[in-house]
Amino acid sequence: MRTKIDNTFGIEAEALAFVSYSSEAALREELVRIHEQYAGLPILHVGCCSNLLFLDDFEGIVLRSAIKGFRLTAETDDEVLVEVGSGEICDDFIAEAISRGWYGMENLSLIPGQVGAAAVQNIGAYGVEACDVIEEVRGISLSDGQERTWKRADCGYGYRKSIFKEELWCKYAITRVTFRLSKHFVPKLQYGGLLKAVGQAGLSEGSITAAQLRQVIIDIRRAKLPDPSVMGNAGSFFKNPVVSTEKAGQLLSAFPDMPHYPAEGGGTKLAAGWLIEQAGWKGKSLGPAAVHDRQALVLVNKGGASGRDVMKLCNAIRKDVADRFGIELEPEVNVIGSLLHRDEAIASSR
Ligand code: EPU
Repeated sequence: MRTKIDNTFGIEAEALAFVSYSSEAALREELVRIHEQYAGLPILHVGCCSNLLFLDDFEGIVLRSAIKGFRLTAETDDEVLVEVGSGEICDDFIAEAISRGWYGMENLSLIPGQVGAAAVQNIGAYGVEACDVIEEVRGISLSDGQERTWKRADCGYGYRKSIFKEELWCKYAITRVTFRLSKHFVPKLQYGGLLKAVGQAGLSEGSITAAQLRQVIIDIRRAKLPDPSVMGNAGSFFKNPVVSTEKAGQLLSAFPDMPHYPAEGGGTKLAAGWLIEQAGWKGKSLGPAAVHDRQALVLVNKGGASGRDVMKLCNAIRKDVADRFGIELEPEVNVIGSLLHRDEAIASSR
């Protein structure tokens, strides 16, 4: 039965069917049924649809994990390994972990989405990425129901990157994620502005608790990022681009104030929000889609925007940033066409 796909961008989109499962066995049963009833049609696995942009109705089946709960699988004096159901809300698990004295995920507080999606997207914020605390990921093949486990080193993790987003895209349902968390809290405050925000909250690096750091992060995010229940959005729309050191040097001689950071794996990471703001787009609209006025990296649905309206804005920004700085911005959100792979969907919207 055609079903509306709720998504944080607030874009109207339907799927042929929406299927939720709460255990591996239930998923396997659903997959058998889906392959019988909808043979050959694409299957899209989603979490909370907080990092997706639908260009059209999705002429396939949307799957979502409702595998809940967590269990300790190993414990030492210093660390725990905790296996978490992919359908848990990531931020709820972070709060729970902090209350139990398991640390390492504080800086990821308030990022929307499920635990499974966190492992696919390698979510990151304030100097921490999911892959810093992921030990292993379990999933089930959407084609034959076989289970597979990937150790962290096999997940192809990089900045907002994993094999689950690339060669395994739409091939597996992530069912469980095991995190390696520390029993000793060491605040990570190196990310630009975080130490200052801690000071402004009347706290210090030497005495801050994990719960206090979580609250500082939550307050920063609430101040900068639009609440999707008020204004549709999917967080950062673009990735921060990584350019060669030479290219960064050229830009820095023309724009000495340009934010830049060494990128892991070489090159220099630039701030897409800054590039978009300099290109004059911050707070600007194109039809019913707009660039958020407090964070230019976030595109918003002012009401009634279609996925194609948002892509028109995306493409206008990409063109202006390319013309001005010679940099190709790449979407961070997953763009979904009716039947297509996301790169083809992006290409088709140009
Ligand atoms: N900046 C501007 N103008 C803007 C926005 C940012 O000049 O409109 C500048 C800032 O002044 C700063 C730099 O750009 O010098 C970086 O800005 P910020 O710290 O706000 O972070 P970001 O690079 O814009 C990234 C992540 C966010 C994450 C924050 C904090 C990506 C694509 N985005 O944003 O992640 O919360 O860092 O770590 O890497 C998300 O992925 O959805 C997301 C929100």
